[in-house]
Amino acid sequence: MVNVIFLGPPGSGKGTQASILAQELKIPTISTGEVLRKEVENQSEIGKLAKSYMNSGELVPDEVVVNIIKNRITDSDCQNGFIVDGFPRNINQAIVFDNMLQSIGKKIEVVFNFEVDENILIKRISGRFSCKSCGAVYNRYFKLTAKEGFCDNCQSDQFENRVDDNESTVKSRLRVYHNSNIELVRYYEKNNLLYSIDAVKSVPFVSGRLMEVVKNFPKV
Ligand code: AP5
Repeated sequence: MVNVIFLGPPGSGKGTQASILAQELKIPTISTGEVLRKEVENQSEIGKLAKSYMNSGELVPDEVVVNIIKNRITDSDCQNGFIVDGFPRNINQAIVFDNMLQSIGKKIEVVFNFEVDENILIKRISGRFSCKSCGAVYNRYFKLTAKEGFCDNCQSDQFENRVDDNESTVKSRLRVYHNSNIELVRYYEKNNLLYSIDAVKSVPFVSGRLMEVVKNFPKV
């Protein structure tokens, strides 16, 4: 069993790597950003509340995301491990998460901290687009579809950009990230869980490094 957290700035490749690692390890990814985007799309109460925070690049209130995690982490498919992408985002979320895990007899084995220069992040975010039908993520600069205009995964010809991938929201997402990440990094460093990842490298290189580390945990 391996329980993993991905920390990192917007555009650092957390979602890309989470889906690769999840497939390799046959464990689920829990992405608070993904869950929140679905809630917004469905115009649920949570979605209505989260929308303005997300569109301005601010954090959605802790109690909302904590509840999302709390409801998901006890699902049966999380029994053999999970990857949490985008949570925790601040020290309060980290402490609540630790207590939550402790109360169900679980713990985090490793926290990967994705490190990427800001100019590369901007390029990755501005180039990102995804398949409207299956959600596969591509990039105008780094990862085009094999056949122009068609998703590699499901052959759909419908693509979309994320609403929060515009210049002013990205600036705000980066500011929010810098404000809270140092404290989070220190917290996990102190608990001997932090593992820095040079996420500037190619997608296969980064996933290789992640696998090397998680391989050392029992039953992987
Ligand atoms: P969230 O969805 O978590 O977004 P984020 O953290 O800003 O991260 P991104 O999804 O933008 O980037 P990523 O690191 O996953 O990169 P990706 O793999 O796509 O959060 C969105 C919002 O939800 C937040 O702003 C907040 O409002 C709210 N929220 C979420 N969680 C919350 C929480 N816990 N508390 C409160 N609020 C919360 O890659 C980016 C691009 O680069 C892609 O096009 C990809 O193809 C490409 N790429 C990836 N890796 C490489 C590589 N190695 N080389 C070249 N290109 C690459």
